[in-house]
Amino acid sequence: MLDQKALEEQRILLRRAEPFQNLEEYLAEGGFKALQKALTMQPMQIIDEIKRSFLRGRGGAGFPAGIKWDGVRNNPTGAHGLEPERYLVCNCSEGEPGTYKDRYLIQRNPYTLIEGMMIASYAIGTINAMICIKKIFTKEIAILERALEECRTAGYMGDNVMGSGNNLPLELTFGPDSYLLGEDRAQLEVIEGKPAWPRAKGIIPVYVGLYGQPTCVNNVETLSTVPHIIRNGAEWFKSIGTADSPGTMIFTLTGDVNRPGLYELPMGTPLSTLINVYGGGPLMERHVQAVFSGPTNAVIPADKLDTPLDYGSMRKIPSGLGSGGYTVLDNTACVLKMGLNFSRFLALESCGQCTSCKAGTGRITRNLELLEAGQGTEEIVLAILDDCQHIKGSGHCFLCTEEGIEIGSIFYNFPEVIVEHLEYGCLKDRHLIMPKIKNYDEATHTFTFDEGYYERCESEGKQINYPG
Ligand SMILES: Cc1cc2nc3c(=O)[nH]c(=O)nc-3n(C[C@H](O)[C@H](O)[C@H](O)COP(=O)(O)O)c2cc1C
Ligand code: SF4
Repeated sequence: MLDQKALEEQRILLRRAEPFQNLEEYLAEGGFKALQKALTMQPMQIIDEIKRSFLRGRGGAGFPAGIKWDGVRNNPTGAHGLEPERYLVCNCSEGEPGTYKDRYLIQRNPYTLIEGMMIASYAIGTINAMICIKKIFTKEIAILERALEECRTAGYMGDNVMGSGNNLPLELTFGPDSYLLGEDRAQLEVIEGKPAWPRAKGIIPVYVGLYGQPTCVNNVETLSTVPHIIRNGAEWFKSIGTADSPGTMIFTLTGDVNRPGLYELPMGTPLSTLINVYGGGPLMERHVQAVFSGPTNAVIPADKLDTPLDYGSMRKIPSGLGSGGYTVLDNTACVLKMGLNFSRFLALESCGQCTSCKAGTGRITRNLELLEAGQGTEEIVLAILDDCQHIKGSGHCFLCTEEGIEIGSIFYNFPEVIVEHLEYGCLKDRHLIMPKIKNYDEATHTFTFDEGYYERCESEGKQINYPG
């Protein structure tokens, strides 16, 4: 029997019902106590604690944060073989369709992120830290600017933090509304004043990051979790969630459910609990057909809904946690049409450095369009499958692999839908929005989506590379 109260008692980041209005409120609830404690510890003690907690990055890949911090701190070589100057970058670009948790976290509590970044900066030994945020996130920029000023004035960041003699600067940097801004190596290029084009595969930021220096890039949610671990200890953190994926995650639930929204749940909670208990299940007399985990992972069919939301279980089915954004499709929606939405998105966002990616996403998108329009043939289906296979791992970054995994998984999991499209074209002509989220109204559980996305791409010259 599901104990909803027990699930909610394990919340870490969204435990407080109301957003923090100012620094005083945060301090009144124990804010910056974790930083105070961290400053009495040796940097390696902090890194060991984060390693022991097995906190995994919440930006998509789930890489253990402590291992990354260790790599940056103990990398002996900087640019040109000189003494390293280390950087910390908080990835606040949140470009994944179907995800809103980082902006939501900042709206509710920018202070925990700042505190987490101060702890990370001290542990890693950075000369500078920055939050890289999209220029269009004006609401979150205003919140962060105000919070940073409060924290600087009160001595919780900047020079001589909390009288410890440590100088831990932190600034905001701004980037374009591009999906690739979220790719860590592209983000470093943007901070250096260049376009959001991912650096070549082998250039790992831990070794060669910002300005060629060792750099730690972490997600907003990852860094916001750090103060809780330092305050309460790695063992406490591991008592929540699963051994493979300790702690909680904030899930963004969109699509065909009664109560879309943002829900923090312990890792390991079944996906069906997120959808049916928190999301209120599908609309009356309908049932869940598929769940998309952004454009990144394989689509999840209805018979896998009981899969626990943790990295290992999701990988086994096989899909992924990604950044915790799940879009539900009920039986009135066309899964192939949703796949086409994501394929168009990836084809538009592909930067074009790798021919296999730009041409492959364009070709797959065109062939999906033909299938949707009832002009599909067996050759077209085979060409899509072939492209999905070959595009994986073929580029500098993971975007092309996302295309191969996601579109290929629709063919694998829903063969009857493909046959139907070959025979009749799309029989479910319901409009499906590409869930690139602009805003969330908590009171009404309503997301606003970026409906002007395609027009904006056109005006910015972003194009799909359709075959000639
Ligand atoms: C195309 C693409 C887009 C990405 N977008 C984001 C993003 O918006 N936010 C984010 O934190 N990570 C994003 N990532 C993952 C980052 O490259 C990186 O792994 C992450 O910021 C590391 O932080 P973490 O270890 O705390 O998760 C993206 C990756 C790819 C390939
Ligand atoms: S894989 Fe695609 S998005 Fe990534 S660098 Fe290559 S062309 Fe650009």
